[in-house]
Amino acid sequence: MTKIISGRNSKKLAAQLSKNLKLPLVGAFIDYFADGELRIQLAGGIQGENALIVQSTSTPVNDHLMELLLLAHTAKRLQARKIIALVPYLGYSRQDQPFSNFGPISAQVVATLIEAAGIDHLITLDLHSEQTKKFFKIDVQNIEAAPVFAKILKEAVNLIIVSPDKGGNDRAHKLSLLLGVNFVVMNKMRKSPNTCQIAGMSGDVTGKHCVLIDDIIDTGHTLCKAAEFLMQAGAFSVEAMVTHAVLSRQAIEKLEDSVIKKITVTNSIEHTYLSNKFRVIEIAPLLTDTLCDLL
Ligand code: R5P
Repeated sequence: MTKIISGRNSKKLAAQLSKNLKLPLVGAFIDYFADGELRIQLAGGIQGENALIVQSTSTPVNDHLMELLLLAHTAKRLQARKIIALVPYLGYSRQDQPFSNFGPISAQVVATLIEAAGIDHLITLDLHSEQTKKFFKIDVQNIEAAPVFAKILKEAVNLIIVSPDKGGNDRAHKLSLLLGVNFVVMNKMRKSPNTCQIAGMSGDVTGKHCVLIDDIIDTGHTLCKAAEFLMQAGAFSVEAMVTHAVLSRQAIEKLEDSVIKKITVTNSIEHTYLSNKFRVIEIAPLLTDTLCDLL
């Protein structure tokens, strides 16, 4: 038997999975001590059962990550048989290499912490890079949203897929193969964090409906700059498909004012409200299928 434990950041998803998979949810009381340390207690035992812990580690990243680790450690301490962490959005995964000679490889530290907390199997959605997977010794199952995006685009005409940077080459390639269309890759330069310039791209988009594909929208800079560049290069229109809607700072306003016609995101990060420019895809069905095969 598997029991689901929900972190505070993915309650809706945990409830949907509990319903779809007919698995019980174990309540978790999560609050803070006076100094800000987390205080966690499960509502019941999990001895000899599998624990499926559901928690995206988005803002506040450190709290949500720590919560995941403490929940996993609790399940381990209570002698759960196997601990599976479903972390649709894994914070710090973009830091899969040091930003400078004097910086950490933060994604590697997160991988070490996840293993040390007792997690046996990690399921993620569109992990930032293959590199991050290599930091883990446990099984990491990375689910891709591309087939879901492809379904939405299957009737669209005159398409070209665009990756805003070289890191997204494989993601764009996969989507283009699913749709039988071409793709181009942009040359994105970052002089400082959270700003960027597009210095060129690998092909012609004249008259095309461009679909920007990316794993994360954080500040929205990348998408806005990429879309402007595409329109200036003669594109007919631009839409975006992005797995994780981090949406920090003024990202929503910036994207609202941008030339991008539609932005499809998943609910790997739960938002209470997003405007009509956003189309939100439920990931529960995709994850239900994966979990059915695993459990
Ligand atoms: C970077 O390599 C990622 O794939 C995204 O392009 C990036 O995280 C987006 O960040 P922002 O929205 O702040 O430009």
